[in-house]
Amino acid sequence: MASIIDLRFEHYHPGPTQLLVTQDTAPRLSWTFQNASSAFSPQSYDIEVSKESSGSTLELLCTVRRASSLSHLVPWPLDRHLRAREKISVRVRVWDSAGQDTPWSAPARLEIGLLSHADWQCERIAAPWASDTTVSDPEQLFRQEFSLPAASIVGTIDQARLYITAQGVYEAEINGQRVGDIFMAPGWTAYDARLPYQTYDVTSLLAGGVNCLGVRVAEGWFSGRIGFEGGHRNIWGPHTALMAQLEIRYVDGREERIVTDGSWQVTRGPIRLAEIYDGEKYDATLEVPGWSSPAASASITSSLENSAEISVVARWEPVVVMDFLPATTNLTTGFTEPVRRIEEVNPVQRITTPAGKTVLDFGQNLVGYVRLKNIIGPRGHQITLSHVEVLEDGEIATRPLRVCKAIDVYTLKGDASGEHYEPRFTFHGFRYVQVDGWDDTVDLSASIKAVVCHTDMRSAGTFDCSDPLLNKLYQNIRWGMRGNFLSVPTDCPQRDERLGWSGDLALFAPAATLIYDCFGMLKNWLVDVEYDQKVLGGVPAMVTPNSTIVDPVWCRRKPCAVWHDVTILAPWELYSETGDATILAQQYSSMTTWIDIVPRCKNGTTHLWDPSIFQLGDWLDPAAPADAPWKSATDAQLVANAFLVHSLDLMVLISRIVGQTADCAKFSSDALATRQDFQNEYVSPNGRLISDSQTAYALAICFDLLTPTQAVVAGNRLKYLVHKNGFRIGTGFAGTPFLCEALARTGHTNIAYAMLLEKTCPSWLYPVTMDATTMWERWDSLLPDGSVNPGDMTSFNHYAFGAVATFLHGRVAGLRRLAPGWTKCCFAPLIGAEFDRAIVEHVTPFGLVSCTWETKQDGYGMNTIEMRALVPYGVTLEVVVPQETGEKTETVGMGEWVFKSRFSRDYEWPIKPLPPKS
Ligand code: BGC
Repeated sequence: MASIIDLRFEHYHPGPTQLLVTQDTAPRLSWTFQNASSAFSPQSYDIEVSKESSGSTLELLCTVRRASSLSHLVPWPLDRHLRAREKISVRVRVWDSAGQDTPWSAPARLEIGLLSHADWQCERIAAPWASDTTVSDPEQLFRQEFSLPAASIVGTIDQARLYITAQGVYEAEINGQRVGDIFMAPGWTAYDARLPYQTYDVTSLLAGGVNCLGVRVAEGWFSGRIGFEGGHRNIWGPHTALMAQLEIRYVDGREERIVTDGSWQVTRGPIRLAEIYDGEKYDATLEVPGWSSPAASASITSSLENSAEISVVARWEPVVVMDFLPATTNLTTGFTEPVRRIEEVNPVQRITTPAGKTVLDFGQNLVGYVRLKNIIGPRGHQITLSHVEVLEDGEIATRPLRVCKAIDVYTLKGDASGEHYEPRFTFHGFRYVQVDGWDDTVDLSASIKAVVCHTDMRSAGTFDCSDPLLNKLYQNIRWGMRGNFLSVPTDCPQRDERLGWSGDLALFAPAATLIYDCFGMLKNWLVDVEYDQKVLGGVPAMVTPNSTIVDPVWCRRKPCAVWHDVTILAPWELYSETGDATILAQQYSSMTTWIDIVPRCKNGTTHLWDPSIFQLGDWLDPAAPADAPWKSATDAQLVANAFLVHSLDLMVLISRIVGQTADCAKFSSDALATRQDFQNEYVSPNGRLISDSQTAYALAICFDLLTPTQAVVAGNRLKYLVHKNGFRIGTGFAGTPFLCEALARTGHTNIAYAMLLEKTCPSWLYPVTMDATTMWERWDSLLPDGSVNPGDMTSFNHYAFGAVATFLHGRVAGLRRLAPGWTKCCFAPLIGAEFDRAIVEHVTPFGLVSCTWETKQDGYGMNTIEMRALVPYGVTLEVVVPQETGEKTETVGMGEWVFKSRFSRDYEWPIKPLPPKS
């Protein structure tokens, strides 16, 4: 019998234990069916909304029945919006055409957070010594004790919520226990516009009698050093500050609030450096025992137990109360999952370097930090951890980190029972860690683990096939995404950047949505993209949050194709993935502002980009000099204009979807004219392009910039160029996502496969053969001789070239979206090369679609193929089955499907090299 699972609000998945708090006061609902028969046909749904009040008792607010088969983004059923702090529980059941109802779903719970400044009664507090510092300011420990009645009829706590944020990064403790599991809270946003806050259920941490709320705060992105070319300090404010509001409700309905105000105290903590780039220095001899526990006045001045040494006596000082946030700064729950510690990785090898240093290899380039456990040593002894991505000449390669130390230092307090340390307010991109100051007699592997941190997205897809190197490439793409989706989508996680470069995301978004559910995170980021764009008068920032705003060179408006087309490309991708048109409405003004402000040809003779504007073009193509990545083989203006036509085409669709008819007409004629101008400027009547390059042809083919006859010529030319280049890649950031696709679309699948499977540099598999575990920034970040590329900009964890994941999912394995939200998709693998098996899975808004194919040779030039598909309710799948001649398309709906067929495999493989003089 059909049942309902995964009942969710908007794009949030409420877990059974995690508290889900949002500011969406009329959330749409979605659910998925499981175990439905192929005859299942939903006709209507019942939604029951209850309000949770004291003691979790439920008060029914409404039961709504609607005749509708909708199961995705179902309108909020209650006739009113939810209010701040309101807690609801929702169940759903569905009736099918036979009059049969599903069981009620498990309840999904949602709590509304604080909605406006008026809901915050706390004050913004800071340390009295906080000032506009030019050097790093270490963490501060804030604390407040408070008394609660002993548990009794009047004193029993029904629930307690901690609403908290910081200008900086924070971790809270109550009575010595850590609150929640979020890393680098509150996360990174355009802080002038929006300061995110978190809500924690802290009911179980409170006790009758004296309690203590303690919060450690460090600079993080807010006032720590961040930005391009060395970065700047104090971008969003001169120092850190804290805002916290603990709301306690008793079973008898009474309420109590503990809020940050002038009665709080603050002292310096043991973290003596807390910087995103440079790392953390933790001096355990400066720990303040019991700092977040009650009755601490005694313990915080007493000496450390288990140590003969005298601990430092903390000087607690009254805090300074600042003005509340300006009305223009929203306090927001955001739309994204927080950053968490996701996974632990053990070292795989201990290396002694030629210089005699001890280096641990974690076997995986990852993002997070190293945790030390049970370490014993004399008080004051230091252990230093230096993080790098690669070794060069056997030693740690620190040059690619540029102005970034990436070093954590732990100073032991001398506790004979063992000490533990993990950094709280920094993260590094690394595979290798050099450990200095370790007692050689102690087994390192038992004491050290790497902790992987990123935004806690749900996995949305997998790919696997018969080629192990390609599978490794896919895993590297996944790891690249994991490392760079940390609060905001970043360019790289290791050096002095880690910024939300718009172009990188614009190009990777279609791959990203296939791999992880990143809707919430990107929706959140796009709000800031729009804000930064407003500040710059309509031109988006190169990076969002805009850390370049204080930089005299970079804060200027710098319109740039591809990078700023993110305003259109990213929301379009989120819409295509989910079918949720509200993301288009949310970003519509950002999109139109950008497309209207694109500087066009000054004398008005064409609709193309003003050619005097500098473009990053096909950034980092292999032909560009190591120190001039914009000097690509493809004319940068051609790239800019190809993306302009593509963006205009999307604006035609988008304006139609959001009901802006006049805009739609305007964009249609603009797209038509600009496309014609592109033709006139760059395309010969027969279909050759003025840049005879892989990127030029790939973009022209994929963005429909050619007539059908020209496209054939262009496809052949692209095939020739790739063949002539020994199947090596000639594209940079802009062309790479479209390269294999353009070959496939013009009927040259095997050339695409030859390129995909090429191992010499530059190629996708070259890094894999060089032991890469993530995607690299350059095709040759590591040169064939094992040395690091001499360019100033060499990261080993950049996701842009991983955009090829769309081809792996969509063409090798064969699962492609045909309609927004996956209501219609196809399973049409391109059988080629020596692939004989592939599997792809994707979690669509309707549930998991899984497609597998396998071929076997029968020895007579014929093959058999078996194709299996799993389709959830709500999705129609077109299965294209190869036949002896041609192919056959079967259209299937919900269910499990198997297709078997015999087909001829008559393509050339391996493809012979071109004769030398061709
Ligand atoms: C970043 C890139 C970015 C580029 C544009 C680099 O430093 O790492 O990924 O898109 O700058 O200028």
